[in-house]
Amino acid sequence: MSTSTSETTHEQVAPQPDDAARLREELIRELHELEAIATPEVERAVRTVPRHLFIPEMSLEEAYAAECHYVTKTDKLGISISSVSAARIQAMMLEQAQVRPGMRVLEIGAGGLNAAMLAELVGETGQVTSIDIDQDVIDRAARLLPAAGYDSINLLRADGEFGAPEHAPFDRIIVTVCAWDLPPAWSDQLAEGGRLVVPLRMRGLTRSVAFERENNRLAARGYELCGFVPMQGAGEQRERLVPLHGDDVRLRLDDDQHADGDALAAALAMPRREAWSGITVGKGVRFDGLYLWMAMKLPDFGLLAATKAAVDHGLVAHSWGLGVPTLLDGDSFAYLTYRPTSETREQFEFGAYGHGPHAEMTVERLASLIRSWDGTSLNARISAHPAGAPDELLPPDALVLARRHSRIAITWPSPPPTDDPGSAQVREGAKHE
Ligand SMILES: C[S@@+](CC[C@H](N)C(=O)[O-])C[C@H]1O[C@@H](n2cnc3c(N)ncnc32)[C@H](O)[C@@H]1O
Repeated sequence: MSTSTSETTHEQVAPQPDDAARLREELIRELHELEAIATPEVERAVRTVPRHLFIPEMSLEEAYAAECHYVTKTDKLGISISSVSAARIQAMMLEQAQVRPGMRVLEIGAGGLNAAMLAELVGETGQVTSIDIDQDVIDRAARLLPAAGYDSINLLRADGEFGAPEHAPFDRIIVTVCAWDLPPAWSDQLAEGGRLVVPLRMRGLTRSVAFERENNRLAARGYELCGFVPMQGAGEQRERLVPLHGDDVRLRLDDDQHADGDALAAALAMPRREAWSGITVGKGVRFDGLYLWMAMKLPDFGLLAATKAAVDHGLVAHSWGLGVPTLLDGDSFAYLTYRPTSETREQFEFGAYGHGPHAEMTVERLASLIRSWDGTSLNARISAHPAGAPDELLPPDALVLARRHSRIAITWPSPPPTDDPGSAQVREGAKHE
């Protein structure tokens, strides 16, 4: 039995089948609105699997809320390490995976619920293998799956770094835990024409990337914004947290990024400087592509995370749990912000707030980078190459993230001409990370 760390406090009332069916239909409607469901196959899987039976700790309403996830385990630092993912994320990744009847699928990171939906998608002629590094999670899934009527799924305790060679090859590999690297086992165990869907962390930003094998590389066919618990085991690579004001303001650092914590903590106490870009975005329009653009274009990059208390104390302008793109400039820093362009708050202009001895210059540098983003940068092209691949085999002008097993290359297509250079042509992404 897994350690439950976020028990619900309300009385548990036996779910009524009619209520569950009604809530499931409402969930499906919402998932369509959120564009998480696109095909009848995924819709049928969501409709068929009794979601609430896999999260008995939750009320029926919570179990069928599109954005609600349930943490089943945390580590010593209080960081979530196992959860039942939110319905929106599961549906979105199932769509990315394009699972068809008869396929052999490997799920890395178990829980039961997603494996049940995969079982619906592959049908009786297919096979689902679901692995988890944590025996508690496997035990929980082994208890919940048969109780919900699913008894044909291979459940194994194993480190996903090495896949499940005894059940390979797989037409689809779906990783449901945040990965920093792409170990060789995943490509090796992918069947011809197979697809790998993986939440990949790139400089602290996680995108669920759908890869297909192309010669000796993995080429992304698309990616979506998501968040997942961190990988454990051989592939573990945690981010670093640099406190700038206790736990209220912290920098999240990833990859080879460095920061002088003492100097930046001192900078935070200095007066705020600002610069504005002239680049605007409409209310409710998603702009997470700007985050990826900044993460890859800034030589020294971090994510500034802050609590609401930090805002109340006037330390920073906004609170963000996961952090906002930040330019690190020695003893100074500047972070992305925005302001409404009118009282109706229909349009927002991006800008930079900064602190430190050189903040005047740092905010200008950040504002200038924002000006170079035109919204099309949202459609980054991502490919993954073996760690030993020479530069000439990587796309020209790629920004390359070096990992233990791979080199992840990111490029942006040239922007199409636009009539209004001040307005970002936003195509995908989310309002906030
Ligand atoms: C978000 S949960 C999986 C959710 C699940 N797929 C569902 O149905 O909702 C992520 C899981 O990945 C597992 N995990 C972490 N590192 C792993 C690794 N190296 N190999 C296999 N599983 C791992 C964790 O124990 C955790 O249970």
